[in-house]
Amino acid sequence: MGHDRWDSAVVYQIYWRSFMDANQDGIGDIAGLRARIDHIHQLGVDAIWLNPTYPSPQGDHGYDVSDYFDVEPMFGSLEEFDRMIDDFHQRGIMVLMDIVPNHVSSQHEWFQSALTEGAGNPSEEHFIIRDGTGPGGINPPNDWVSIFGGPSWSPFPSSGRHLQRWYLHMFDPCQPDLNWHHTDVHERFENILRFWLDRGVDGFRIDVAHGLFKAPGLPNRSGFGDNWSACWDQPEVHDIYRKWRKIVDEYEPSRFLIGEIHTATRERLLEYLRADQLHAAFDFSFLHQDWSSDGFRDRIGANLDLWNDTGCLPVWTLSNHDEIRHWSRYAPLLADRSPDGQVANIRYRSLLALIMALPGRIFLYNGEELALPQADVPDEDRQDPAFFRQTPDSDYKGRDGCRVPMPWDANLPNAGFTNSEPWLPMPEGWHDYSVSIQHDDPNSMLNYYRSVIQRRRIEDWMKSDSIDEVESSSDILSFVKKTENKRVRVLMNFSDSDFPFDNDNTIMRTSDSDISDSFLRPGELAYIEI
Ligand code: BGC
Ligand code: CA
Repeated sequence: MGHDRWDSAVVYQIYWRSFMDANQDGIGDIAGLRARIDHIHQLGVDAIWLNPTYPSPQGDHGYDVSDYFDVEPMFGSLEEFDRMIDDFHQRGIMVLMDIVPNHVSSQHEWFQSALTEGAGNPSEEHFIIRDGTGPGGINPPNDWVSIFGGPSWSPFPSSGRHLQRWYLHMFDPCQPDLNWHHTDVHERFENILRFWLDRGVDGFRIDVAHGLFKAPGLPNRSGFGDNWSACWDQPEVHDIYRKWRKIVDEYEPSRFLIGEIHTATRERLLEYLRADQLHAAFDFSFLHQDWSSDGFRDRIGANLDLWNDTGCLPVWTLSNHDEIRHWSRYAPLLADRSPDGQVANIRYRSLLALIMALPGRIFLYNGEELALPQADVPDEDRQDPAFFRQTPDSDYKGRDGCRVPMPWDANLPNAGFTNSEPWLPMPEGWHDYSVSIQHDDPNSMLNYYRSVIQRRRIEDWMKSDSIDEVESSSDILSFVKKTENKRVRVLMNFSDSDFPFDNDNTIMRTSDSDISDSFLRPGELAYIEI
């Protein structure tokens, strides 16, 4: 198989609302992103992934799409979007869009027609609308629950019928699920793909790619041994991805389809990665992996096996817009950033060096290059719909803490993100992470990210597909990467004590120890030519 431009790509995720606000409404936009393109270019990434860009009432911050053929006016116009694609392409950076096929916004024309055109109107067929159960249909049709909490059904106008009707939403009520058994839906999404591919988009990240179809008859989850099987991951979905793959394969240069896929078993995941379907699936295991060399070894091993079985290269990621920022997951004590407590910093650097030496694709999340921690957003400022659907006893606060806007300039109000009120408040000390400070500091996290990304661009062994001896013992993770004329051992110390090692031919290490020190400090990683 020939080399593809996506094979070892480093992709940088842009969370629109939080990246850069140019028109001073407190929310990021296209003009802001274009103004900060140099930041991305200097990082040295191969591609960006844009969270949903479409017009949306922003009930789930873009994952509730009301028109798939345009750009959210708050972000800019279609013309600006086209110019932005050109800007990135001129710098050799590919652009991945988000596509949201499982559900639409309740403001989408289809749902609006279904709501307003009277019972039995054809638009109702585009959604999953059922009679309720119990007297007068007072209870939802089945026991399914929304990913954001609470029932996954909300009342739908019943137009004088005997029973209350309900519509299905696996997420927020503002996100009605589409009925993928209707061919209109197929056709519409094929047109959407072409619409954006024709504009030069280099691929799609498919939101909830295991969704779309539901089990026939919408059986109660409680009737199934395995709950996942009722609401998700139905066999019909594979024909859809076969069609999508054919469409993207018509385009040159190659386009890319990556799924956000959750399945009950590994065997089920394999089905999405058949040669005629998606090119890749995210691996989310590092987002939930404890600090343990055995754990990391197992996850790496599992991913390499999956690659072996499918031919689809792995995708490594440490953070995204749905999860707690990995600074805070792995280094919860901010105090640990003090000059005499560098372990957190070393761990954080090592995690990047680790994934950058693995075969496949890397997804970074905006702000991780600044070592942004999870922000503590006061409850009254929270915006995530998932927060509002929690029961009072829940500890889950939703996802706002990883979405607080980027700090650009330490000398400006709101760290240069906006002149007006940012859509989520920046906590105290946020300015200290600013790009303006880190840019000129050779020891900053930003410059560290730039240098490792740059190294991966030049060093073939880092991108190489050839990996073996993936091992973990005594809290030391180790593996070997190879090219024809180079062999490099990657060693990472997960323990709390120094680990003696033969430092001859060390290429890079992630602490500021002298390169000739013959021990790896706690949390430290080294690349060693062997
Ligand atoms: C996205 C979330 C979104 C959900 C519903 C996800 O998995 O990553 O941010 O809320 O899909 O579209
Ligand atoms: Ca704006």
